[in-house]
Amino acid sequence: MTAPRSDALVFFGATGDLAYKKLFPALQAMIKRGELDMPVIGMARPSWSLDRLRERVRASLVDAGGLDPAAFEKLSAQLRFVPGDYQNPETYERLRQALGDAKRPLHYLAIPPSMFGDVMQGLAAAGCAADARVVVEKPFGRDLASAQELNRALLKVFPERAVFRIDHYLGKEAVQNLLYFRFANAFLEPIWNRDHVDSVQITMAESFGVQGRGNFYEEVGAIRDVVQNHLLEVTALLAMDAPVGNDAWSMRAEKLRLFRAMRPLDPAQVVRGQFRGYRDEKGVAAQSQVETFAALRLQIDTWRWAGVPFYIRAGKCLQVTATEVMVRLKRPPLAIFDEGGDDNDGHGGRPPANYFRFRLSPEVVISAGTLVKHPGEEMRGSATELVARSLLGGEDLPYARLLGDAIRGDPALFTSRESVEATWRVIDPALRSDAPVAEYDQGSWGPDAAVGLIADAPDGSKQGWHDPRPEESTAC
Ligand code: BG6
Repeated sequence: MTAPRSDALVFFGATGDLAYKKLFPALQAMIKRGELDMPVIGMARPSWSLDRLRERVRASLVDAGGLDPAAFEKLSAQLRFVPGDYQNPETYERLRQALGDAKRPLHYLAIPPSMFGDVMQGLAAAGCAADARVVVEKPFGRDLASAQELNRALLKVFPERAVFRIDHYLGKEAVQNLLYFRFANAFLEPIWNRDHVDSVQITMAESFGVQGRGNFYEEVGAIRDVVQNHLLEVTALLAMDAPVGNDAWSMRAEKLRLFRAMRPLDPAQVVRGQFRGYRDEKGVAAQSQVETFAALRLQIDTWRWAGVPFYIRAGKCLQVTATEVMVRLKRPPLAIFDEGGDDNDGHGGRPPANYFRFRLSPEVVISAGTLVKHPGEEMRGSATELVARSLLGGEDLPYARLLGDAIRGDPALFTSRESVEATWRVIDPALRSDAPVAEYDQGSWGPDAAVGLIADAPDGSKQGWHDPRPEESTAC
């Protein structure tokens, strides 16, 4: 049975940062695709006029580099604005009026979780929750206990099938491609396990800082901001078993199994860092111990992955902006070709092992690291990547994809209650660590301590972090 489409989009936090940076460009994209034929109602506490909101939408589209005059006109015509205090029942009465004939609104909560309770109550009391759906931003809670509490509050008002916990990474083309590449090809599955994979690394590096979001970041830190959600989701897609079908429930079931097999983090295997200068940001405490960098070693206790380390690293003000996965394979059992002395990759004279590299942003690249013989009589070669590329920094608006899914009631790319709680169970011990953050220089790869997390290969050769290169050339 197909779920009925939502017939109005209500977004809370209309004057905020997320709406400006991500939602408005997504709404324009949806208008262009003909997917937003409904009233679009902004909610916010400041008492702006509708015209002021329209101007903000225009500025956002210009900033995002893609104002389409016709689509903007259409969006402006559909836009309504309901300012008001989220604790005041009148705000929701005015929302009810603005909804007019709409009976199945989609409410998007782009607001801090501390306000969810008030909004839930207000929506329910004004009759705006019946047959409605709700999209909730990450991070979903601050830890396991608060996530459970939040789930209870949401589920008092909405059934689970109407709750869409959003993680925009799941709407990214490259992240979707991880799933596709793994399960549309047959050659990967036989080697995608502890017998052949030596280690997995995921790096999410950003060369910029907190961009004026000091207040937000002080509440969150890198582990809550991107590890608990974006990077554990990527890990799940890399490591989960094949789903029994391409439907939402099969996908979510396999991911949940994987999340539940992740061992809760050992604080000794977590390095937290802070870039020098963070404490001078507006909204940041002078003695802040909030991490802007985290590196950790994760274990997955399944027959497929037992003993294979998953190294995860994320940070602000690092050397480049790129998110990349490196799956290192084990070396051949014997070295047949004597290639001594030619240190291709810092492996003590031995050529590098094979690998798969998935670049998730800013470009979409999938490559396999191989060795290819040099021409000539000697049996010597060098590292050669077989590269497949797509979407060279082109249009990738995950929010448009995910909002479209939520409007259609398709939960496949959203996180279930069980999954969000399972990820917090993994993360919780790392949040309790009171070890001081290690400072690092802006433009570096984070604190030195992160290097110590990576174990040497079983054959004794040195392994280190794989540092993604700056933007990849567009030439194939
Ligand atoms: C957000 C985080 O969820 O993801 C930000 O709050 C981060 O801190 C951002 O910069 C990265 O996402 P993207 O899609 O812009 O690479």
